[in-house]
Amino acid sequence: MTTALRQTIFSGIQPSGTVHLGNDLGAIRNYVRLQESHDAIYCIVDFHALTSTHDAGLLRSRTREMAASLLALGLDPDRCTLFVQSHRPEHTELAWLLATVTPVSWLERTPTYKEKKQNQPDDINHGLLTYPVLQAADIVIYKATQVPVGRDQAAHLELSREIVRAFNNRYGDTFPEPEAVYTDAPVVLGTDGVKKMSKSVGNTIDIFGSPELVRKQVMSMVTDTQRILRTDPGRPEVCNVCQLQRFFGDDYEDLWDGERTARTGCVDMKRLLADRIVAHYAPARERYDDLMAHPGRIDDILAAGAERLRPRAAATMDDVRERMGLR
Ligand code: TYM
Repeated sequence: MTTALRQTIFSGIQPSGTVHLGNDLGAIRNYVRLQESHDAIYCIVDFHALTSTHDAGLLRSRTREMAASLLALGLDPDRCTLFVQSHRPEHTELAWLLATVTPVSWLERTPTYKEKKQNQPDDINHGLLTYPVLQAADIVIYKATQVPVGRDQAAHLELSREIVRAFNNRYGDTFPEPEAVYTDAPVVLGTDGVKKMSKSVGNTIDIFGSPELVRKQVMSMVTDTQRILRTDPGRPEVCNVCQLQRFFGDDYEDLWDGERTARTGCVDMKRLLADRIVAHYAPARERYDDLMAHPGRIDDILAAGAERLRPRAAATMDDVRERMGLR
């Protein structure tokens, strides 16, 4: 099928350090799957990262690391377009235009804004507030209709839809309303078993970390808190380790049975999970190391991706400027 006949999907990921298991199970697996059937555009959102990261060198290296991670996990530049947000500056122009149809009250009630205000009270910059407007611009500039994300992005996606409706009402039918696409693990809990896995919480399993680090992180996981003694029956439905087993082998029902009958203990289950995660990501880890040893290759892929999108971004901006009276 040619690109023109395929539905366009878009997703973005922050260059916030290495990829964790929540990113992969919650979103990246869908990026990889959907590149086969869709006109797939994936973006490393460095403009967004600037709302929290102010170290130029760090941002630059993390951007490249994120690109290497995504390519290592299976994004194929022949099947999708991978690029860096700041390499297509039209995103910020469109964000400004969309900001003029977006009431401030919509932004102030966004859960991620409220969270960030608490997490970084000394740095409540304007970018944090307007963050979802830029996210809407990212998606609609390519008229994407579907957005593979984890459930934590649901409020942002809803806001994107509201912004599209507000724009279309004022200036005529311009953008489609984008919809979220979830995997079967839309919320992956962190090693604490309570909060969403997230770098800022510090409860991640870093899939490109050394095998020792991954083992340490998995062994630190909180399991079923009501299972005190080794002989107590376990409850796989509430145990985060058991939940993750579902994604690393077909035998999870047997494993769960072992837990319910106390044939196995939590430590056995963690050891097995750690081994499986390390083995599962070993080939990707090798590809990652190889890519990072050839940064020129990564940079070429990113430059080509941004260049490929130039005419599409320009066409949308021409249309939008015309509709808004900017000519
Ligand atoms: P970010 O960088 O925080 O996360 C990238 C993707 O990983 C998913 N994810 C998770 N899924 C399940 N369980 C978890 N514990 C977990 N942690 C992260 C996220 O849902 C996301 O899909 N605002 C976005 C970036 C963005 C964007 C966009 C996304 C900017 N523009 C346009 C979609 C479309 C973010 O910060 O994702």
